[in-house]
Amino acid sequence: MEWSVPVNSMLKDEVNKLNYTLIPEGFKGDVREVRLMQECLSKLIDGLGEQSADAQGLNKVITTAEKLRNTATHVLYLLKDANAKDGSGDVIGMLKVGRKHLFLFDEHDQVCEVEPLCVLDFYVKRDRQRHGYGRLLFDHMLADNETSPFEIAIDGPSPKMEQFLARNYGVDRLLHQNNNFAVAPQFFQHTNELRSSLCSTPAVSAAVGRFAAPKPASAIANVIHGTGALYRPKSSG
Ligand code: ACO
Repeated sequence: MEWSVPVNSMLKDEVNKLNYTLIPEGFKGDVREVRLMQECLSKLIDGLGEQSADAQGLNKVITTAEKLRNTATHVLYLLKDANAKDGSGDVIGMLKVGRKHLFLFDEHDQVCEVEPLCVLDFYVKRDRQRHGYGRLLFDHMLADNETSPFEIAIDGPSPKMEQFLARNYGVDRLLHQNNNFAVAPQFFQHTNELRSSLCSTPAVSAAVGRFAAPKPASAIANVIHGTGALYRPKSSG
């Protein structure tokens, strides 16, 4: 599919950070140019989201431009190949993260209430996989958030994701939780200081992430974009 705005004109860097404004850092333009850019970027994000869901065998799409616009706490990193498409550039991968309020059990079945940074969606285009692009994207996200693979939670890790973490970061196993998230066993070493104050047994473990109940739309996004009528409440992560 051809985009009316070349990727290199929308995204300046190799890894580009996007939030609910859908305006990449460094993008300059008037109102008309911003609208056109957002429209093109939205199609591009929606396409990647569908490919990611397909690759993971999910029956619903996790990442769409609309969900990003409605969720002020989510960040999407887009990886660009500036030389693709005869020099007009192409987006070849994406990584979505956000904080979630979670109850997680360690190896001794002790529960902790935490709000870690979570990997919500991660995808590198099929013909670009196993070339180090996922690592590049993930390293950028870790540095940007000053965190490590042992301090984050993964929402519904696929087998490829587990192999990716083992191969690139030495995370050789994950503790899978009932709420569909998974963390490295070392995760709980980082939360030790929180234990005494936060550990308790919740009556009900809240459904979160890919299985979360619908939440109201972000009011701030509506104020900024004036799009209350266009953007409905998101259904999940
Ligand atoms: N089969 C098995 N392992 C794989 C595969 C594959 N097809 N592709 C990547 N990996 C793992 C391997 O450990 C590989 O190392 P190896 O080639 O030495 O065996 C390592 O990842 C390669 O690292 P990168 O090249 O940096 O990773 P890549 O660019 O392939 O990106 C990603 C990794 C994003 C998981 C990619 O494979 C992908 O998009 N997979 C399909 C979608 C998916 O499963 N996403 C993760 C869902 S979980 C979530 O989003 C929370």
